[in-house]
Amino acid sequence: MTETGDRSAHITVLMTAEEIAARNTVLAAEIVAEMGRAPLIIPVLKGSFIFAADLLRALHDAGAAPDMDFISLSSYGAGTRSLGEVKIVRDTEVPIKGRDVLLVDDILESGRTLAFAKDLMMARGAKSVRTCVLLHKKDKQAVDITPDFTGFDCPDRFVIGYGMDVAHAYRQLPFVGYLEE
Ligand code: IMP
Ligand code: MG
Repeated sequence: MTETGDRSAHITVLMTAEEIAARNTVLAAEIVAEMGRAPLIIPVLKGSFIFAADLLRALHDAGAAPDMDFISLSSYGAGTRSLGEVKIVRDTEVPIKGRDVLLVDDILESGRTLAFAKDLMMARGAKSVRTCVLLHKKDKQAVDITPDFTGFDCPDRFVIGYGMDVAHAYRQLPFVGYLEE
């Protein structure tokens, strides 16, 4: 399917808004079954903000009452190639020690971002650290980390929408897609 609206011309849709919403409901049920009602949810910003917001409401519908904090990590600059080094742009504020942490990210590509975040939370004394990603680009993975909860397998394309950007644009799209050449 190709969107033809002005602001989203030449974009091929990979996951529709409806498909994502249905998947979020299933993910939330899996998370509650495995982590209980009160995990500490930590979205890895910026790309995960829409996914995390929808997942949080799906978790509410699934009977959970999570706490939330945020961490902002960067490995990309403004380009489309990972620089390979993860930096903390904005850190968490709530105590991590003794908590069951769920890190939420948009994409697992090399795995460096999530591995970095997981090590950081473990080093801060989390009781457990699990990971949830909307998309898993298995072909690009370089670091040995398996997400505990995965929305969709993702083809080896630079994807945009549903919070994900290229050079700070396209985050507003309600679906996930990629720009055609
Ligand atoms: P990793 O550290 O290589 O696993 O990269 C993961 C991070 O890179 C994600 O949190 C995303 O923010 C970003 N990223 C990776 N692939 C894409 C993409 O196709 N579109 C937008 N952002 C991406
Ligand atoms: Mg990210």
